[in-house]
Formats: sequence, C-alpha cells, structure tokens
Amino acid sequence: MGRLIVVSNRLPFTLRQDGARFEFVASSGGLVTALGAYLERRKQAEPDFQYVWVGWPGSAVPESQQATIQQTALEKHGAYPVFLTADDTEDFYHGFPNRTLWPLFHYFPSHVDYDPRAFQNYVRVNQRFRRALLELIEPGDEIWIHDYQLLLLPGMLREAVPDATIGFFLHVPFPAHEIFRLMPNAWKRDLLSGMLGADLVGFHTHEYTQYFLNCVFRVLGHDHHLGQIAMQDQVRRADTFPIGIDFERFMSAASSDAVKARKNEILSGIRGRTAVFSVDRLDYTKGILNRLRGFEEFLMRYPEWREKVVFLLTVLPSRAEIAQYQTMKHEIDERVGQINGLFGTMEWVPIVYQYRSLEFETLSALYELSPVALITPLRDGMNLVAKEYLASKPDGTGVLILSEMAGAARELSEAILINPNHYAEIADALHQALTMEPEEQIRRNRPMQERLKAYDAQRWATHFLASLAKVKAKQGQLATKHLTPALQDDVIEHYRSARRALILLDYDGTLVPFAMQPNLAAPDNELSSLLMDLLQKPQNATFLISGRDRSVLDAWFPNPKLRMAAEHGASLRDLNGSWRLLQPVASHWKSRIRPILQMYVDRVAGSLLEEKDFALAWHYRRCEPELGAQRAKELIDEVTQFTANFDVQVLEGKMVVEIRNAGVNKGAAALRIIREVEPDFVLAIGDDQTDEELFRACPADAFTVRVGSPFSFAKFSLSDFREVRRFLRRLESAGHR
Ligand code: UDP
Ligand code: G6P
Repeated sequence: MGRLIVVSNRLPFTLRQDGARFEFVASSGGLVTALGAYLERRKQAEPDFQYVWVGWPGSAVPESQQATIQQTALEKHGAYPVFLTADDTEDFYHGFPNRTLWPLFHYFPSHVDYDPRAFQNYVRVNQRFRRALLELIEPGDEIWIHDYQLLLLPGMLREAVPDATIGFFLHVPFPAHEIFRLMPNAWKRDLLSGMLGADLVGFHTHEYTQYFLNCVFRVLGHDHHLGQIAMQDQVRRADTFPIGIDFERFMSAASSDAVKARKNEILSGIRGRTAVFSVDRLDYTKGILNRLRGFEEFLMRYPEWREKVVFLLTVLPSRAEIAQYQTMKHEIDERVGQINGLFGTMEWVPIVYQYRSLEFETLSALYELSPVALITPLRDGMNLVAKEYLASKPDGTGVLILSEMAGAARELSEAILINPNHYAEIADALHQALTMEPEEQIRRNRPMQERLKAYDAQRWATHFLASLAKVKAKQGQLATKHLTPALQDDVIEHYRSARRALILLDYDGTLVPFAMQPNLAAPDNELSSLLMDLLQKPQNATFLISGRDRSVLDAWFPNPKLRMAAEHGASLRDLNGSWRLLQPVASHWKSRIRPILQMYVDRVAGSLLEEKDFALAWHYRRCEPELGAQRAKELIDEVTQFTANFDVQVLEGKMVVEIRNAGVNKGAAALRIIREVEPDFVLAIGDDQTDEELFRACPADAFTVRVGSPFSFAKFSLSDFREVRRFLRRLESAGHR
C-alpha cells in the first residue's frame, strides 16, 4: 500500500520566529483540526499507515535552518514543509488566495482584488508545491490536495504524472456562477481545469457541488451525469462530503479533570452568571459585528437578562496583514467597548472579550460550561465550532444558535437557525435559548449528536478516499474504451480481411464540428475527399445515418454512390439517388406540435425551429447554455404530455429536442441496412444519444465508436471529429487484402 500524501497550504503547526530561533505553534482553523484528527486516529488504528503532510510552515526560514526544521517537522508532525521566501509569502498568502478567492467564494465581491500580478504569483507558488510533490511522491501514493490556496495544483500534477491518484477537497463554499463569473475568463478556466486535474473533487454541501458542476458546464462546456464529468477521454467526479469533527475527543474531554478544573476557574471568574459563548478566527465572514449588534439588541429588548448573562467572546488572530481584517479588528474592539460602556455596571461586564488562541482544555471547558453558543457567520463553508460545541455536551443540554449561512446548518437543523443580518432575530433567539427547558434542549441535541458521532472526521475522510478509489476503478474500466492507435490497428486488421465492410457514420458532431446554425455545417474539402476515397473501394458500403432531412443531405452530398439515411432513418437514399421510406410514417401531428415549439422559439432568445419532413426540432445551441438546457427540460415535459395520444417520440440530442414518429430510429434503420448489405465487418461511429440506438442494433462483433464521451453502449470512444477523420483516413489507406 502506498502512502497518503496530504497537501494543504496550512500545516498543523505554524513557525513563529523568536529571535534567531523558530517555535512550532499549533495552527488554527477547521482544515487543520479535521485533517489532524483523521491522520492521528488512523495512525493509532493502523500502525502500518503512512502519511506525509505537505504544506507551508507559515514563516520564511533562512536556508541555513531549513534542514533542521525539515527534520523536526517530519519527526514530530509527519510534515514536509514547502519553504517559501518572505516575498512569496507576502505575494501569495496575502495575495490571490486571501484577497481574491476568499472574499469572492464567501460572497464579498466588494472586497475582491483582481490583480493580475497576484494571479501570476498564485500560479508560481502552486508550481512550487508541484515541484515539492514531484520530489516526494512515489508510485502507489494517494495524493489528497486541500482548499482554495491550491486550486491549480491538481491540474499541474496531473500533467506531470498522468496516472496519479489525486483527490481534491474544498473547505470553503463554492459560489454560484453569478459570483464566480466576476473573475476574468482566463482565471476561471484555469482554476476549474486545475481542480479537474483531480480524479475526485469534494465539497461540504450538495449546493456547492451543484454550483461547481454548473460552472464547469458554463465555463468549460463539460456536462455531467450524476456528478460524473466526461472529459476528453477520462471521467472525473464531483461529490459532497460534509466534513466532521473528532467527536470522541470533545465528548471525553468534557469529563477530564483538566477541563473540569479549567471550567471551575472560568465559572468563578464570571461569578456563576449564564454564559453565551462564541469562538472564531477574526474574519469578516464570521459575522462577529452582526453578533455584537444582535447581543446589544437582546440587552435592549430583554432588560431582565442584564447582569445575569455574560457573553464570552473569543476571537482568534488571523491574516492580520490584510486591510479588511485590520479594519474589522478595530470595529470589533470599538463595538465591544461601546456595549460594555453602555450596559456594564461596577459588578457586571456584559462582554468578556479575548483576542488570542486557546489551549484545547480552555476551549473544551468553554464549550462545556456555556449553556448557549452563538455562531453567526455571514457565510461559512462548514463551521466546525458549531459541531464541536454540540460534541462537548455529554448530558445533552445546551442551545446552539446557528446562522443559516453556515454549511453546518444543513446538518444541524434542530439548532435555532437564524439569519445574521436580522439583529432582532438574534436577540429573540438568545431569549428563546436562555428560556428553553432542558428536556427540549436534549430533545433537539441528541439527534444532532448522533449524526456528528456517526459522521465524524474519520468517516468523512474514509468516505472521500473510498470514493476516490472507486473513481479510479471506474476509469480503469473506461480506459480500455478509448480507441488508441494500438486498438485502431486491430480494427484495421479486421477491416483489411473483410469481404464486405459496412461503415455507418453519423454526420453532425461526428464528421464535422457543430455549427451555430444547422445549415452552416456543410462538408469541407477534406471530408468530401475522405468520403470519396472510402466510396472508391468496392468492398466498402459507406452510409451516412443522419438526423438531417433529405433536401439538406441531397444538397451537400449529390454523389448517389454515398448511401444515406435521413431523419434518423425515416428514409433511405438508394444508389439511383431516389429516396424511399423505410416504414410508413404519418406527419399530421406536426401541425399540433409546431405552435408549442414556436412558443419556445419566441420565449428563448437564440433558439430556432427546424422543420424536417417527418420531424420537428427545437435547437438551442445559440442560447445561453443554462437557460437553454432548462427550457429544453420544460419543453420535453410539456410535449411528452401533449403527445401521449400520438405515435411520436421526443428525443434529446446535443442542444436539440426533436419530436418524430415512434419506431423511427437509427437502430431500426441500421438493422435494415445490415440485412441488405450482409457485411462481415461493421464499423459504426456517432456522437449523441440518438446514436446509442445505432450501437445497440449492431452485431456483437461490430466496432462501435462514440465520439466525445466515454459513457456509451459503444465499445470504443474517440475525442472529436478530428480524431474520427484521422482514424477513417488510416482505415481507408490501409486498404483491403
Ligand atoms: N480552534 C483553534 N484554535 C483556537 C480555538 C479554536 O484552532 O484557539 C479551532 C476550532 O476548534 C475549530 C477551528 O478552529 O476546529 C475553526 O474551524 P471552523 O470550521 O469553525 O472555521 P475556520 O476557522 O476554519 O474558518
Ligand atoms: C479556513 C480555510 C483553511 C485555513 C483556515 C485558517 O478554514 O479553509 O484553508 O487554513 O481557514 O486560515 P489561515 O489563513 O490561517 O490558514
């Protein structure tokens, strides 16, 4: 078994310079807590488990000291530091990740800096991580990259090691396209392609996953099927893995002697008053000012609680070099001072405010002793503090007030959920929490505790890594399908010894790229001469099986030697150039359906109606993609209901919805053709859903090829029309024996 290589910008320790020496100080933040817990527990359970945690040590270290620090990091923390210079740190850590991605992904567009130089530095430092990994990794290692500081790294690594096992997890929200689109186009493409370098991309909530898939579709054009994304010749996956905590650690800490002692100290400090508690990094996303405004509102609305309640507000120093964080610090200091000045008395200070990080025992004691936790982020990927608070309550009491903007709110629905922008709501929630009966508290908390216990940090990571292994296995199965040059040789061998070779070709998307309007996709010279050459060989029977109607096909391919099936096999052109219907078809239904399609044309800008002899098609290739796809679904729904009594079928092709007679399909046409031609070699190539019927109808020993997608009944896949043409050219020039 290979090692697990965990990669994150932040390591479990941060180096602090103390004169010429460096101290190893514990890092804060949810990423480090969850991953640290997982790695430690797994190591305890499986002594053979090997891991390395690669990341930035948090300070610039002179070269002369790097070797010693590297050794200590590895021995004490299983860590492999990626050393960055002071300039790198300034340009990177205080640059693109924390001035652009962090505010944008947390829906603070007004805080976002769009500095091209910062993006270049981001690329440079991601490359620095890539080099470090290339020095370290060995075949068989699993690589798990984390968070928004390293979005480009999976793609960079994939380029260097194409078959590596790479997972990626995002610890912050992934925003809706409406927000993501604010970034310059080139950055958007690079960031998404970078993430898709990973075999599996994980998010905290279903919404973030959906937003990501939607951005991938809109920016890169890759569609997905239940989270599986079809890339050129590989599948990737995006899925949801809500991060958990080390439940047992918090639960058992609550009854430890050290925590009990700490708890008593704090309680005597607040003289037995009721504590409302919060802890977060100093960050504008955490809604600390809103919380203070809410607490103030509470003291005004419910004066009976004055002198009875103390708000224990702990703020952890974070990213202090960034202007918005400094401003926030001043605002919090001021606001706390104002509230304490306004409401405090000689005996009572309403807010006990600390700006520092906490020892684990103190944190655990605070969780345990506080009857109420007030967690009010304006936006948060998950929020582990909320979960840790619940895990620190062995008797099941305590009330969690939680912002609905935190990812954790999805799982913690029994908490009192509030909107942090509504101060009165915070005030009322505090009153409700302080007056809630213990039985009610327990009734709400127990199911949440059960969930947190069942899906802890261990389960989260195990679930992610198991899914990663599954994606890898799936790729293994599909990998055989890409029609590589070696596999093409095999097909060509069969072709050469064939007595009668049948070649069935779809047209749009298979032999030519899609054009913005259907009538602009005429064959070019290269294609015409390729088809001509295929037709020259007497052993070949070459057919186009297209969704196009007869008149277009006649106009584009006047040579009657080229056999053709029009409108997905409704009619067939014979060698004398005349068309015959393959089965009787009625088209009286068209006059009933046409007005519906016309209504969609009027409603959806850029869409158009194509009238064929035996079918109607609504094209939305030129529409705004998301809107087009959504309207297509509505149209299918509407038409399917309307046509229940007609013998027609509704088909979804690529950016087109087509309504045509039932029983007419490429598969039925292929069967007729095969019966006529009696081939001993069949090659069928197509690119969309309608070609699947063709593949299914082909004999078991046929060579079937789907273009552009590895998800198919076909045996093989090719990337695009260019690859198809190259392959057909090889086939044609090999000739028959
Ligand atoms: N935490 C910490 N140092 C402290 C107090 C708390 O590292 O002094 C931890 C806390 O236990 C929690 C994490 O910081 O696990 C905060 O994670 P959360 O998801 O709530 O927010 P983030 O800081 O990651 O945005
Ligand atoms: C959040 C981010 C982490 C980050 C942590 C602390 O949890 O998702 O990637 O490590 O905050 O922030 P810092 O800037 O100190 O690493």
